[in-house]
Amino acid sequence: MTKLIQNWQREDRYRPYKDWSQDYKDTLKKSVAQSPWRAGYHIEPKTGLLNDPNGFSYFNGKWHLFYQNYPFGPVHGLKSWYELESTDLIHWHEKGTALQPSSDYDSEGIFSGSARPINNELFIFYTGNVRTKDWQRRAYQDGAVMDKSGTIKKLDLPLIKRPDDVTGNFRDPMLFEYQHQIYMMIGTQNKDDKLGRILIYKARDNNVKHWQRISELKVPQKYLGAIVECPNLVFCGDRPVLIFCPQFLKKWVLDYQNVYPNTYLIGTKVDPETGEFKAHNSLHLVDKGFDSYATQAFNAPDGRTLAVSWLGLPEMTYPTDQYGYQGALSLVRELKVEDNELFQYPVAETLQLRHDEQKNVQSAVIDNNQYELEIEVPAEQTVSLKLFSNKAQTNYLLIEVSAETGQVIIDRSNPKHPLNPKYGKTRMTHVLEHQPIKINFFADASIFECYVNSGERLLSGRYFPDEGENHIYSDNTKFNIWKLKK
Ligand code: FRU
Repeated sequence: MTKLIQNWQREDRYRPYKDWSQDYKDTLKKSVAQSPWRAGYHIEPKTGLLNDPNGFSYFNGKWHLFYQNYPFGPVHGLKSWYELESTDLIHWHEKGTALQPSSDYDSEGIFSGSARPINNELFIFYTGNVRTKDWQRRAYQDGAVMDKSGTIKKLDLPLIKRPDDVTGNFRDPMLFEYQHQIYMMIGTQNKDDKLGRILIYKARDNNVKHWQRISELKVPQKYLGAIVECPNLVFCGDRPVLIFCPQFLKKWVLDYQNVYPNTYLIGTKVDPETGEFKAHNSLHLVDKGFDSYATQAFNAPDGRTLAVSWLGLPEMTYPTDQYGYQGALSLVRELKVEDNELFQYPVAETLQLRHDEQKNVQSAVIDNNQYELEIEVPAEQTVSLKLFSNKAQTNYLLIEVSAETGQVIIDRSNPKHPLNPKYGKTRMTHVLEHQPIKINFFADASIFECYVNSGERLLSGRYFPDEGENHIYSDNTKFNIWKLKK
């Protein structure tokens, strides 16, 4: 009987896809199926590791979404893109592996990137990860196209080679449009000072096969950490919003607890030609929770600005690893800027998942912890809730909301399955004090997304309850709760 790999070596992680035996793949699938934590309405990998969302787009009457996938175990190895498709942003049809390493320009992995419909095709821009014999990192920016029948073909040659002034950390091309011109921004690290940069390229005559480097985004250097990953530029109305992951960001610049931060800046003006970006405010975290990274956003043709995040982080381990998989994607969120604040909230379609409402209750038990819970906390009151709780109320995730101080705290101090405790056991955010606070808490087996004041703040994370740990209790507040469909 084939066994799952426990102690992963580099040669395992980079073994060509075709060299994995059917037996191993079957064993892995069976193992995943035994997990008590499979989500009901979130996207998880079929097997192996899921990380960044990629290629989020609308093409040929459907929403397209891909994710970074290493299919053979819960580790970062030879990556590919896994493809999903939807007509409503909540039911996703799994289409299988869409892009896998096959050439000298992506031999060590198909890394992150974006997609955009161009001339009746979906143009896909991704990073080809390449390692030299002595394991030095090389990166190419490669293209592929999907036609209307869904067939994807890679372009033979890279579209962009690494410029001399940046290191091998040169990845995650993000397509965007500004004043009818197509641009791409890419995260990197400058060779001289080893600090993060965001480069901007322009498609010559809007031809996405011809790119020209034109500028560097001018945001304060201190915001860019030592390497920028996954940069995105979207517009919420006329406000440019820059979302990116500055690795090794100094904590005096922004206080964060996760291994790497996922941040945003709201601008008042952007000019891709010169790189000018006038920031309205200072740097903020996209998500104040425990497990969230690599947000991908785009301006959808229906006028909405949509985003999805990886509910996971680099370098973490999770209890699902023992079953051979790791990671999930967040719900699809709509982004808005109101009063100079970024709001993020699950798209309106998500309401269709609700059924079996219970109103004004003080406790509930929900199968598979698959629900949305809503609390309205009146000004000056403080309430707390135990979620994912056992009957004895000894194991649970605690949430405390003070409408007096405006503080919302999520505390996972005492779970049976410890979750990367080195990075802290509580997360906290603030909204205006002495005002009512509304909480919408989405739970799904071992995933949670907690929205404060309809998306003014967001705290997501993982929590792994044992069997029977599906109770919700409060001593001091009533709540409304809906079960959510699979
Ligand atoms: C972010 C990231 C990207 C890269 C991808 C590789 O999590 O490191 O920069 O393209 O993951 O899987």
